[in-house]
Amino acid sequence: MAHRLARPLPAAAAPSVGRTLRQQTAAALPPAAAAAAQKAAVPVTFSIGGSEVTVDAQPGQNIWEVAKDAGVDITLGCSQGACGVCEVEVWKYSSADSSGSNSVARACIAGIPPGYERLEIREVPEDDFWGVDGYDT
Ligand code: FES
Repeated sequence: MAHRLARPLPAAAAPSVGRTLRQQTAAALPPAAAAAAQKAAVPVTFSIGGSEVTVDAQPGQNIWEVAKDAGVDITLGCSQGACGVCEVEVWKYSSADSSGSNSVARACIAGIPPGYERLEIREVPEDDFWGVDGYDT
């Protein structure tokens, strides 16, 4: 049996159209919680293609999408983590390790790693021994 409303919902009760869940959630957060969520953002510096751009990103955000939103072009191949065309070097810095540590990530599927003070994302360097990217992939 279908239920029908006798009168339309007031505007405040109607579902919001055009707002994302993230926007709705952020709007619902108390100011202290919203500030804490904002603090979780980490500065990410992309050094790719001869330019350097720094943006704030949330841990877990896709690296390729963060780069794209920042106007940084990371070449894509399969977009599924299989080919390695999008590999980047991710340098991670924390207050306990200011010299940083690095790893290689496939930007199309990798997220911004959590728990670091700042990140640098660079092109994978060329290597005389291993060839194109210096890594075995
Ligand atoms: S584009 Fe193929 S692994 Fe990322």
